[in-house]
Amino acid sequence: MTRPAILVARPVFPQVIELLRQHFEVDHHAGDNGLPPAELIARLQGKVGALTTGSERIDAALLDACPQLRIVANMAVGFNNFDVPAMSARRVLGTNTPDVLTETTADFGFALLMATARRVTESEHFLRAGLWTQWRYDMFAGAEVHGSTLGILGMGRIGQGIARRGAHGFGMKVIYHNRSRLSPELEAGCGARYVDKAELLAQADHLVLVLPYSASSHHAIGAAEIAQMKPTATLINIARGGIVDDAALAVALRERRIAAAGLDVFEGEPTVHPDLLTVPNVVLTPHIASATVATRLAMARLAADNLVSYLTRGQALTPVNPQALAP
Ligand code: DGY
Repeated sequence: MTRPAILVARPVFPQVIELLRQHFEVDHHAGDNGLPPAELIARLQGKVGALTTGSERIDAALLDACPQLRIVANMAVGFNNFDVPAMSARRVLGTNTPDVLTETTADFGFALLMATARRVTESEHFLRAGLWTQWRYDMFAGAEVHGSTLGILGMGRIGQGIARRGAHGFGMKVIYHNRSRLSPELEAGCGARYVDKAELLAQADHLVLVLPYSASSHHAIGAAEIAQMKPTATLINIARGGIVDDAALAVALRERRIAAAGLDVFEGEPTVHPDLLTVPNVVLTPHIASATVATRLAMARLAADNLVSYLTRGQALTPVNPQALAP
């Protein structure tokens, strides 16, 4: 009997490819660059499943051109690369990788916050450039982290992980804003207090963005929001590019309207707004918040397990649109 065919659209761990080969004919795109849309469509011909990352756009045009496709398993918790209504209308299931990356991503949110507030990369560049010739009392003096006010916009599992680290590890006062308020038990567990967005912007010494990207969160932080922040504040984006207006942020950083920013995600990544590359008070990382070996392996395994479970037993583990299967 011929086995179902799937596409793995990005390089992944060899052991995950081996696992998939036990069940499927696997076409693996192992090149460093993602497949352009037309090539992705060509490689998906005859495939019932695909393992993707957040970079492969799964929209109506692709789905119409790939009518055999039944499941797309994202190796990411975010799935703004999916046109969910278009997938559901064609009974194509989408899956993501929640939970396995929560603590690792929260760790990184804190790493970026610390690096930004304490000017770690800026001072390293100074040292590497051979500019460290004497001690100065204000050399790379940054912002206090312990005991300061941590603001979190978006309070899902990762936001709660960051809140716990801030409240319990660094004695921070934690405030958050989210579409829906957490239960009193969850608020107490992560030591966080709900506030409206205006208070969050005005009070936070460090504002961390962890909300999902959607049309309604596009440019949730732009010039008007930055103007409401403290001039001493730091802004950390580990959520998605497009949530921050990067051009407006570059202007604000240059004019020191806020002290600094730490960015792991960018509008139009992997391209980065050129003005962000020239301001010194920003820490830039290439979308690596979930990048530990163990977590990336767990994400790849979960994406693969979703393909195996759905295509062999009809049940996905972490579907994002179970409504696609409604009778
Ligand atoms: C996610 O899982 O959504 C992270 O951004 C990594 O891609």
